Amino acid sequence: TAFGATAADPFPASGKVITIVVPFAAGGPTDRVARDLAEAMRKPLGGISIVVDNAAGAGGSIGANKVAKANPDGYTLLVHHIGMATMPTLVRNIPFKVESDFEYLGAINDVPMTIIGKPSLPANNFKELTTWIGQNKGKINLGNAGVGSASHLCGLLFQEAMKTDMTPVPYKGTGPAMTDLIGGQIDIMCDQSTNTSSQIEAKKVKAFAVTTPKRLTTPALKDLPTMQEAGVKDFQVTIWHGLYAPKGTPADVQKKLNDALKVALKDPAFIKNEEGLGAVIVSDKRMEPAEHKKFVAAEIQKWSPIIKAAGVYAD
Ligand code: MLT
Repeated sequence: TAFGATAADPFPASGKVITIVVPFAAGGPTDRVARDLAEAMRKPLGGISIVVDNAAGAGGSIGANKVAKANPDGYTLLVHHIGMATMPTLVRNIPFKVESDFEYLGAINDVPMTIIGKPSLPANNFKELTTWIGQNKGKINLGNAGVGSASHLCGLLFQEAMKTDMTPVPYKGTGPAMTDLIGGQIDIMCDQSTNTSSQIEAKKVKAFAVTTPKRLTTPALKDLPTMQEAGVKDFQVTIWHGLYAPKGTPADVQKKLNDALKVALKDPAFIKNEEGLGAVIVSDKRMEPAEHKKFVAAEIQKWSPIIKAAGVYAD
């Protein structure tokens, strides 16, 4: 009817627009994967327009909350990362429930992180970086995307490993933080390879290590040691992304969105974009909503004690 959706309305209806909410600034890693995904999901959803809404701030919780409270009709979706599993511990008063306010539509990719520094940083490898950090205790600025963000989590682990407190400088995303790192306004950042690869390759930033258990093979990253090789044990962070809808989105709509997600994750252009920047598309199993929900629950259990041990919270 003209007055509202009924069960018989097709999804997606012609003339409608799907909005993917990105909880970080434009030009960063979440924005990138969401825009690539929007492009790849368009065709399997009948050519519908899919736009990205950067609802950035508060480490990713503003955008997630926006989707938790949105109309559950399939036209408002969320792309979010590991923050779905770390926010419940990191941010004490989040205004939504990760487990019960969303329909899980499936996982998207896994992304390594890189430890990077401003171009004028006088260190050319991890050992020299460690020395420089030791010499500059109390003076180092660490960029991140706010409490609850991936760069915040990785930065916490890095400070713990270096036994040094750094001054956090929060941004609405690592896109804008990267601009300041290149400009030398901040010193260090831990950020996803999908945002750092081209800057590393262009030598606009210095890169010191990757946070994956194995070295990576892309041109920009292949010479970087793992943290283990660099002498830091038990330092592994992989950022994963998932697609979500508000709780109560009809089951048939969820199924169509999951089907479209699966088509998108096999799209050669999407795969090429992601893999070229060090990311890995998830297995077929992890594309299943129930599997992704189990995965997120396990990640909450995995990260909760690590975050509690680091002793950092935000209200
Ligand atoms: C972004 O998209 O800006 C990043 O994912 C932020 C973060 O570090 O979590």
